[in-house]
Amino acid sequence: MAHQWQGVIAEYIDRLPFAESDPVVTLREGGTPLVYSRALSEQTGAEVYVKVEGMNPTGSFKDRGMTTAISKVLQTDDKIVACASTGNTSASAAAYAVAAGLECAVILPAGKIAAGKLAQAIMHGAKLVAVDGNFDDCLNIVRELTESYPVALVNSVNPYRLQGQKTASFEIVDELGDAPDIHILPVGNAGNISAYWMGYMEYAGKTTPASIDDSATRLEARATKVPQMWGFQAWNAAPLVLGHPIEAPETLATAIRIGNPASWDYAIDARDTSGGFIDRVTDEEILEAQSLLAAQTGVFVEPASAASIAGLLKTSAAGKVPEGAKIVCTVTGNGLKDTATALAPKGELSFDPIAPTIDAAVAALNL
Ligand code: F0G
Repeated sequence: MAHQWQGVIAEYIDRLPFAESDPVVTLREGGTPLVYSRALSEQTGAEVYVKVEGMNPTGSFKDRGMTTAISKVLQTDDKIVACASTGNTSASAAAYAVAAGLECAVILPAGKIAAGKLAQAIMHGAKLVAVDGNFDDCLNIVRELTESYPVALVNSVNPYRLQGQKTASFEIVDELGDAPDIHILPVGNAGNISAYWMGYMEYAGKTTPASIDDSATRLEARATKVPQMWGFQAWNAAPLVLGHPIEAPETLATAIRIGNPASWDYAIDARDTSGGFIDRVTDEEILEAQSLLAAQTGVFVEPASAASIAGLLKTSAAGKVPEGAKIVCTVTGNGLKDTATALAPKGELSFDPIAPTIDAAVAALNL
């Protein structure tokens, strides 16, 4: 029988801080498609793949880190998990809390969560609190909350989150046979770029997983090199590019509307150690890249995810993409989560009904 993907803990347990006997909460996350993009390859002169993280159970990469973080909660007495979120973390936390039999509380910036993500948290029965503030305010609240109450924090400052998210790098190396030359990601709270870097370093045998003492003898290197890490923030939410926190971040890519990334130092280390860079792209570039990816590659992603594609195209236009380089762009979340933002630039959509005849359909389609 064909192998059925078991979820990231089961698939990579020898490289994660879990023992075989530990409880595991999984919705079979991971194992996502790595899709070759002919259109992007032709446009950039490189060999470009997209890692489609919108194919995870709740439609974003957050599930990789939620299986690990929430499985660990089952080893404690905590019965409630909590997170701040721009939408995807809350959707994922809410779903995995259900699977674990835990309660979930989410603290969200009021009016800045895409409808699909809000629907997910509601349908999974999370307790929602909307804050008159941005993500950074929400994260401050939830950090204090989890310090004073028996509530487990499942934002990416929880180290088990990055442990799970690093498995995306493992999958890419397993599929390509080695690390790519360049890896491109959107950057918000900066957890994911940090996790990918950790994964690439561990898989190349350059570092060993913190929790595994005898790993040097037990784990063989699977990659011969590590990629350059390129990160892209939204133009008016680009603290890592400007070098200081932003008070009032703004972007229609609400998932990365963040002014003070929690994993700041890790992200800078990933950038500098890998010889990469972190730059920013405008909302217009993001929407254009989102449209191009949907229309030319067949992958519909949410706006924040398209920041990686926008960054690739911008860097290519500046003549800075090495000819023939193998490049992976992570597209972090599913386009169906936020159809309103995707459709807004398309103008008024009106479908005047036609008569229910083949002739009318042929005429309407200009065939
Ligand atoms: N793309 C999407 C779709 C996201 O939801 C996020 C973050 C990012 C990119 C950036 O990843 O924070 O690790 O740098 N979303 C978080 C949330 C903040 O609450 O869902 P990062």
